[in-house]
Amino acid sequence: MSDTQDLRVAVLGVGVMGADHVDRINRRISGARVTVISDASPERAAQVGATARDAQLVADPFEAIAVEDVDAVLLATPSAVHAEQVLACLHAGKPVLCEKPLATDAEGALEIVRREAELGRRLVQVGFMRRFDHEHERLKSLIDTGDLGQPLMMHCAHRNPAVSPRCDSAAVITNSVVHEIDATRFLLGEEIMAITVLRPTPSSHAAEGLQDPQLVILETETGRMVDIEVFVNAGVGYEVRTEVVGERGSAMIGLDVGLVRRTEPGSWGGQITPGFRERFGQAYDSEVQRWVDAIHAGGRSGDCVDGPGSWDGYAAAAVCAAGIRSLETWDRIEVDMVPRSIIGRSGSAGAAPDQPE
Ligand SMILES: NC(=O)c1ccc[n+]([C@@H]2O[C@H](COP(=O)([O-])OP(=O)(O)OC[C@H]3O[C@@H](n4cnc5c(N)ncnc54)[C@H](O)[C@@H]3O)[C@@H](O)[C@H]2O)c1
Repeated sequence: MSDTQDLRVAVLGVGVMGADHVDRINRRISGARVTVISDASPERAAQVGATARDAQLVADPFEAIAVEDVDAVLLATPSAVHAEQVLACLHAGKPVLCEKPLATDAEGALEIVRREAELGRRLVQVGFMRRFDHEHERLKSLIDTGDLGQPLMMHCAHRNPAVSPRCDSAAVITNSVVHEIDATRFLLGEEIMAITVLRPTPSSHAAEGLQDPQLVILETETGRMVDIEVFVNAGVGYEVRTEVVGERGSAMIGLDVGLVRRTEPGSWGGQITPGFRERFGQAYDSEVQRWVDAIHAGGRSGDCVDGPGSWDGYAAAAVCAAGIRSLETWDRIEVDMVPRSIIGRSGSAGAAPDQPE
């Protein structure tokens, strides 16, 4: 690939998220095209492959990563296989954008951090797309300029209309709360030291045994507190609200204030975003475009990440692991994280010790 050539991307896993990324690269991203599609389901691969001009179908995901005319890999496979597929990308020296989570356990994520550090260049970006959402960017800059004063607390709500009946209580943390965990690190710029998961009365719409909703409390290293209501069978729509309370005021995003309509007889209102693709469509587009641009800029020897990297994936996985323990024990659990400074030099882990990106 030269600066003027399109980045040749393999998309692995073309279910809901992967098909969306294929469509995005085909229609809205400049400087990239999909050259390989791989999915465990040949029917699904063929169906999505038909939408991507000239994309080759490769059944085995590891072969797909190794294909010569693949410059970079976008992983949207099930979370359980992310770690082994990211490691294969590192082995092949290819940049990878891995949908969250980076790994389903902290050890798997830490192994990726270490391997990337050994390579000495950043190749792993993690799909925490909220960092690219314009509302989150505005909130972050408001905090960073000091206009809110020192931030003291955050209140978050994360509601989905419904989830698959296969979703269990731990997956609510690793699939949903993981976004608030990353948003907390991004907005407040510090690590999370402890987590407590509380169990309100479960909704009768939740599958048998599923703890839904959950109330999660995060504590950061300087003592700020973040409360998160996560309710994945809320039935209403997709709602992600974040309020930061500082010493000089508060600011909130995610209010869904679009068109407000007044109609007869005497009613008014708007619409709640139906799902994450509608709410964060702009963020996914920006995330993928900036990833593509970073790879063009990094070339064959430089860093290929613009946004959350492997350390962020590890930090989130460590907090999730503590959250699952809290869910099981009903206790406040301190996060067990290796200090960032002990990971050897890579553009990512060693560059700015103890500062989330
Ligand atoms: N960033 C976000 O907001 C966001 C939103 C949704 C999903 N995700 C993440 O994206 C990933 C995929 O989620 P989804 O909802 O698209 O799931 P999905 O089940 O719709 O799609 C997964 C696809 O991967 C295929 N697959 C299974 N095993 C495979 C393997 N070993 N190699 C290649 N393909 C394989 C399946 O056949 C399926 O088509 C998950 O990790 C999820 O956490 C992120």
